[in-house]
Amino acid sequence: MEGLPAVYVENCEEAETLTVALRDLQISATIYLQYTVFSNRNVITRNARLENTGNQVIKVDRFMSAVIDLPSCDYDFMHLDGAWIRERHITERPLTKGIQSIDSKRGTSSSQHNPFIALKGKNTNEDSGDVYGFSLVYSGNFIAGVEVDHYETSRIFIGINPFEFQWRLEPNEAFQSPEMVMVYSAEGLNKMSQTFHKLYKERLVRGKWRDRVRPILINNWEATYFNFNEEKLLQIANSANELGIELFVLDDGWFKGRNNDTTSLGDWVVDKAKIPSGLDYLSKKIRENGMDFGIWVEPEMISEQSMLFEKHSDWVLRVQNRPHSHGRNQYILDLTRVEVREYIISSMKNLLNSAEISYVKWDMNRNMTEVGSNNLPAGRQGEVSHRYILGLYEILEELTNCYPDILFESCASGGNRFDPGMLYYMPQTWASDNTDAIERLKIQYGTSIVYPLSTIGAHVSTCPNHQTGRIVDLQTRFHVAMFGAFGYELDATKLTMIEKEEIKDQISFLKRNRHLIMNGTFYRLLSPFQGNDAAWIVVSEDKKNALFAFVRTLAKPNPSFQRVLIKGLDPEVEYCVSGLENKYFGDELMNVGLLLPPFYNGTVKLNHSVFVGDFQSFIIELEANV
Ligand code: DGJ
Repeated sequence: MEGLPAVYVENCEEAETLTVALRDLQISATIYLQYTVFSNRNVITRNARLENTGNQVIKVDRFMSAVIDLPSCDYDFMHLDGAWIRERHITERPLTKGIQSIDSKRGTSSSQHNPFIALKGKNTNEDSGDVYGFSLVYSGNFIAGVEVDHYETSRIFIGINPFEFQWRLEPNEAFQSPEMVMVYSAEGLNKMSQTFHKLYKERLVRGKWRDRVRPILINNWEATYFNFNEEKLLQIANSANELGIELFVLDDGWFKGRNNDTTSLGDWVVDKAKIPSGLDYLSKKIRENGMDFGIWVEPEMISEQSMLFEKHSDWVLRVQNRPHSHGRNQYILDLTRVEVREYIISSMKNLLNSAEISYVKWDMNRNMTEVGSNNLPAGRQGEVSHRYILGLYEILEELTNCYPDILFESCASGGNRFDPGMLYYMPQTWASDNTDAIERLKIQYGTSIVYPLSTIGAHVSTCPNHQTGRIVDLQTRFHVAMFGAFGYELDATKLTMIEKEEIKDQISFLKRNRHLIMNGTFYRLLSPFQGNDAAWIVVSEDKKNALFAFVRTLAKPNPSFQRVLIKGLDPEVEYCVSGLENKYFGDELMNVGLLLPPFYNGTVKLNHSVFVGDFQSFIIELEANV
């Protein structure tokens, strides 16, 4: 689809497309509705295209990607909502008569509401029952909802948000909607999620990194914030290298004058006061030790205090002759302007050519307010938000094509733009600025409703945690973060010898298992939204290996024995279970359950159990006994 991200096929047997053309002879316009049905996936995609074949202008006020009618309203409306540092929490409510919807008006797909809704049958759970999921491949303002009418039928709608939107379609022009992806499952939510995961992993994410396991990284943001110099960076990188970490990521603060968040966005030149030898030297020095080097950028932004603003204050997105607001002390560049897009592309190319860079974290740290462009006439201001996203996609297409070896990770104050549109260009997204493992249980569990583990950026950070002040064992922090695109976000020079040894073990464990985590089938087992415990499992495609994870939030005195029903195993296969001498057949583990190791039993003799106190976790490896 011209200029818009979409799922794709690699050969024509994978899917078939039906195009329905609807002609309006009165105004001389045609709408093409495209339905693509996948042969081996329970997926239908839909997009719409409007062509103006007449000789008058058509003003488009609302143009959905899909509108779908279901004959009943006996469903629960499910979606993923939240806020900064508590993104994508699972929310459900029964459908009622009238219109119920979620949306974003913030210029990004947003952390308030993810561009996804589902309709769940009344008895649907993780493993059984009907569910229809609708996901929009788009990164800007969207709306998704359901209208239940007087005959109790449900009309689902999803597409660009009509709020402040209007598109002037001139004769001989066409308007293309983003793509909607619909997944149906008759086997509950896990199956719906697995269908989304496989599709997005195999046929949305593109390029070399689609099928590659991701490097274990260390990011200096929470270690130093803006306060670092070359020596400190090299010390962190060296310590990380000794632990087995593969990629060092230099976060915000590396460019000229950037000692806090009030300045310098737009000027992508290295700060020699902090990094006197320059980025090329730094990247080479880090590479000498066998690690790769990555860098943070926020190219869509401009600070008032910057050389770029001195030259091009007119490049700011704003409504003319009206006051305009800062967000995190910064303005947004007007990506509807070709010269702005060219500037971003050339400044990024200069940067990426200036050093040995193998990873880019592409950040975006404010929402849009007072959305206007002096590039467009008054009658076209309703086009700005969508044109901005089209401009962003054009930039990303160019840069990701030019640098196919670079691993790109998108970020927007954490998960403010975690959507399928961004995943088309960048195979992973920093899921949240919240690195607290206990908060991450909900964030990652909710994210897994639509998005595969390989796309979910997750890091082990220091304690007390910087967002919540919580203290959680290093083991639990690892057990939660390892089920994602994994890394560390701490000062490796400050680790104790014991922590270093533990991290070395974590890294070698992860290196052995990351292929399984990235490519296996993910099942949610116990929901952190419903109780004190969370559990999940990843099972290899041949069902010979699996990794089971369990996290208990608060300690319970004298708890009962607990079994968890495992999913996804081969019932006929006997499995070795790490930590246990006996072997168990898949059917026993799935129907009777896996008996969990004992937690603290309430006596003073703590040595009965290794799991004492709050926030405890363990991983169990299952391996077919062949
Ligand atoms: C927001 C990101 O989510 C953080 O990880 C960090 O990169 C900061 N921006 C830097 O300003």
